[in-house]
Amino acid sequence: MSYYLTQTQTSEGVLAMGGIPLTQLAHDFGTPLYLMDEAHIRHQCQWFKTHFKHPQVETEVIYASKAFLPMAMAQLVASEGLSLDVVSGGELYTALQANYPMKNIYLHGNNKSLEELQFALDAKVGTLVLDNPYELERLMGLLKPPHHIQVLLRVNPGIEAHTHEYIATTKNNSKFGLSIFDESTMDVIKRIHEHPQLTFLGLHSHIGSQIFEAASFDQHAKAIMKYVSKIKQTLHVTVKAINLGGGFGVRYTDQDTPLEGSNYLTAMLDSIVTAAKINALEIPKVMIEPGRAIVANAGVTLYEVGNAKTTFAQKRYCFVDGSMADHLRTALYQASYHGVLANRLNDPHEHRYTVTGKACESGDIIIREVNLPHPNPGDLLAVFSTGAYHYSMASNYNRLTRPPVVFVREGEAKVVVRKETYQDLIQYDVKDAL
Ligand code: LLP
Repeated sequence: MSYYLTQTQTSEGVLAMGGIPLTQLAHDFGTPLYLMDEAHIRHQCQWFKTHFKHPQVETEVIYASKAFLPMAMAQLVASEGLSLDVVSGGELYTALQANYPMKNIYLHGNNKSLEELQFALDAKVGTLVLDNPYELERLMGLLKPPHHIQVLLRVNPGIEAHTHEYIATTKNNSKFGLSIFDESTMDVIKRIHEHPQLTFLGLHSHIGSQIFEAASFDQHAKAIMKYVSKIKQTLHVTVKAINLGGGFGVRYTDQDTPLEGSNYLTAMLDSIVTAAKINALEIPKVMIEPGRAIVANAGVTLYEVGNAKTTFAQKRYCFVDGSMADHLRTALYQASYHGVLANRLNDPHEHRYTVTGKACESGDIIIREVNLPHPNPGDLLAVFSTGAYHYSMASNYNRLTRPPVVFVREGEAKVVVRKETYQDLIQYDVKDAL
């Protein structure tokens, strides 16, 4: 099972990661703990770079940093030669502080503030992905010589990928981008193209996340190429690049069936080449923006068991020392996870448990159902595939401190985000304000 790939087992039935038993990591860094397998992240970066290739197409892989972006990750992405998608001033600032090369940044967002746009111009961000004409107005108001910046326009091709509703971005009612079916979208492209301080590079679109159907990606590529052709015919403007976003699904549990191999990437590029030839277009550069597929399976969250409890109605709970504040996806998307007692892999898995945490609400579920040995206080519970949208979506709900993030690799463990303290929790509170 691929979510086990980055972990191994010691002879005593203890789970290990990057060559270190999880019992050791819990001892050294405490729990809850976000662990990331650095070799796996690097492998995924190279996998996309190697497989997203075509003899006739220039390609680029951009890491979607919303999935996970401590400064160490920005540095890792730079060292692996991937570009970076940032979606806020905060993500941009993180990349800047990590010395990530600004020319390889794509700044996204559907409502960039003046401050964020100014920041991008001052920092000499490589490419802006504009969402709508209001953003274009805002940007034009800020442009002063010698500002010059490349622009992609986010469009909505109306493709509905099969995924959870909250993370499907390209139905016709999506808040993102401008519809390719709306005539006025062409006017926005014209305005960008004609502006002396902007270079209209091309189009961006993203059809959703955690997608398992190759057909969705292919349909997406074809729809965008149709619009590329329409732009050429209507405005005589060449679209030099298309960014098809991310969305490549991963395995959280055995129920998930992510795409195997890289045929779907080649098929997508083949469709683009074919469409370009049929319509006598230049073959555009093609970009993708994987986030989850780079980091999800590299992550394990490690908790300590406090207790097991059986309710009057005979539901079995396993209580751990984290919560929905460090693991939001189960509560938010009804996402499914797999986990094990990391120090007791060989013990019989006697019962089905719901893993829950310390937050003060019934929806505080980490794993809805998992078979475990009877959990004892002090046991360690490892939850798999928590590398994407976990640390990045963590909060301080209930004034719980966020766990540290530790990278492990070849027997070495490095703290890349330190553990929060109670002092951190009150650092923005104004003392004696009233
Ligand atoms: N590019 C754009 C413009 C995006 O909006 C996203 C994700 C990505 C790339 C990366 O998509 P990925 O390859 O990671 O699927 N919090 C949700 C996921 C939200 C994704 C939003 N956009 C979750 O935990 O499932």
